[in-house]
Amino acid sequence: MSAKRIVWITGASSGIGAALAEEMARHGWQVAASGRDQERLEAVCARMPAAIHAFPLDVTDAAKCEATAADIVARLGPIDLAVFNAGVGSNFSVDRYDANDVFDRMRVNYGGAVNGIGAVLPAMLARGSGHIALTASVAGFRGLPGGGPYSASKAAMIALAESLKLDLTGRGVDVSVITPGFVRTPLTEKNRFPMPFIIDVDEAARRTRLGLEARRFEITFPRRLSYFLKLLQRLPYALYFPIIRRIAGL
Ligand SMILES: NC(=O)c1ccc[n+]([C@@H]2O[C@H](COP(=O)([O-])OP(=O)(O)OC[C@H]3O[C@@H](n4cnc5c(N)ncnc54)[C@H](OP(=O)(O)O)[C@@H]3O)[C@@H](O)[C@H]2O)c1
Repeated sequence: MSAKRIVWITGASSGIGAALAEEMARHGWQVAASGRDQERLEAVCARMPAAIHAFPLDVTDAAKCEATAADIVARLGPIDLAVFNAGVGSNFSVDRYDANDVFDRMRVNYGGAVNGIGAVLPAMLARGSGHIALTASVAGFRGLPGGGPYSASKAAMIALAESLKLDLTGRGVDVSVITPGFVRTPLTEKNRFPMPFIIDVDEAARRTRLGLEARRFEITFPRRLSYFLKLLQRLPYALYFPIIRRIAGL
């Protein structure tokens, strides 16, 4: 990595992305911060104006992702690390099943990361260095009740990260997948169900930065929730369904 390290973070206008932008900036990174809401984005940049720079973007627009990556390179320099973190939650009910809504989660969460990767990977491969990180979720470990569209989009991100990690072996480009449990952000503010082991956004940002700087493939926290869900992930359906029904009170 060059002395001036450049990180591109999508979904940086709020929550985990905003906290991560500040955390990375405080540790010497130059941050290109993306999100759709220009006003909120500018407010995040104003926290450290010399280190956090606004690059407004809707991640569902592939051409705009490419143009934004080119703009970042022109204004700041080659992107060392790209964290594709933009995401939307879901309030899913089988009684109000809406295919557009299901696809919308996929378009933003998975599609946004896919577009972002397309915008940075060719240059990283050409120079033989770089690091791509996808913010998935523990909700992607298994299908969870009430969260089908969200879980599906995050499971897709985990599978994509695993494949890229293998395909990029020996090419100088690292891959990470970030799988947070519950973090206090505007996204979880709306939840009306218990959120065990929820952590503050600054703690999530700190753990994410440490994992990224160590170039770990999997960055998962809080471990108490994550490891429990990983245990459930390994169970056969005959055990998984009754256990998760009992936990969810179904
Ligand atoms: N909070 C949790 O407990 C938790 C747990 C696991 C995983 N995650 C994941 O962490 C990531 C951040 O979530 P958060 O909790 O920080 O939520 P948040 O506060 O709602 O932030 C979501 C961010 O995504 C951006 N975004 C949404 N749609 C976008 C689009 N089409 N184009 C560009 N940016 C877009 C939003 O910016 P604009 O509205 O300005 O576009 C915002 O900056 C998400 O991927 C989420 O799934 C969160």
